[in-house]
Amino acid sequence: MTNSPGWAPELGILGTGRMGSRLAAMFARAGRRVVLGSRDFDRSAAIVKELGIPTLRAGCYLDAVRAPAVLPAVFVRDGLLDLLERYCSSLKSKLLIDISNPFNSDYSDFVTPWDSSGAEELQRRFPQARVVGAFKNVFWEVFDHPQFGDVLSDVLVTGDSAPAKAEFLKLAEGTPFRYLDAGPLIRSRTIERLTFITSSLGQQLNSYPRMNWRLLTQAAA
Ligand SMILES: NC(=O)c1ccc[n+]([C@@H]2O[C@H](COP(=O)([O-])OP(=O)(O)OC[C@H]3O[C@@H](n4cnc5c(N)ncnc54)[C@H](OP(=O)(O)O)[C@@H]3O)[C@@H](O)[C@H]2O)c1
Repeated sequence: MTNSPGWAPELGILGTGRMGSRLAAMFARAGRRVVLGSRDFDRSAAIVKELGIPTLRAGCYLDAVRAPAVLPAVFVRDGLLDLLERYCSSLKSKLLIDISNPFNSDYSDFVTPWDSSGAEELQRRFPQARVVGAFKNVFWEVFDHPQFGDVLSDVLVTGDSAPAKAEFLKLAEGTPFRYLDAGPLIRSRTIERLTFITSSLGQQLNSYPRMNWRLLTQAAA
């Protein structure tokens, strides 16, 4: 399916869980050619068939990592780093979009130390790729109804490479979020850990998991 003549994916997504399937649909609806990769091709094929978006195709992980931009939607605790290691030669110079919040299995803490982040661990392990952190602050349910009334919520974007961030923003054109450059990759430490606060505030406000940030601003006089 993914290797039909003239069809080259722009984005490969690994993992068909809550985030992977929704991000694949979102990017494909914005017109990007997306391959949704799964450990189980039939699982991906069923999701893609159900979604029925012309620019979305099913594949396995190998199909996904062949795309010029790769977005793994797999938990660090489930072996994300080792999994990508299998495809490390395919990651050279690629845009690697990191959405990980490295929660442990009961969501009480992170599996990464305080002086690191999922994004930095990925960049350290795969220096041949250009890591951009994004969507970490967006809970899965938000993708189903991304607007809050008339308001677009924010996606905080991090990365050490300005061209990589620009490539990411081009890929994200037409998707229903406001993208803010939140600075270098090290800021992912804060953004990832912010999810603990968002999650508990959402529960207090009886909104979980339908909540997201929007930075309110007013132009300086
Ligand atoms: N959930 C959220 O609201 C949210 C928000 C922001 C960021 N994130 C991040 O997004 C990533 C994915 O989160 P998610 O909520 O989409 O997770 P999920 O629903 O559990 O899906 C993860 C997918 O990873 C794949 N996978 C590969 N190896 C696996 C293994 N050993 N065990 C289990 N699954 C494995 C599976 O897809 P296949 O079987 O198709 O290969 C699975 O469906 C995580 O890094 C998370 O921190 C999540």
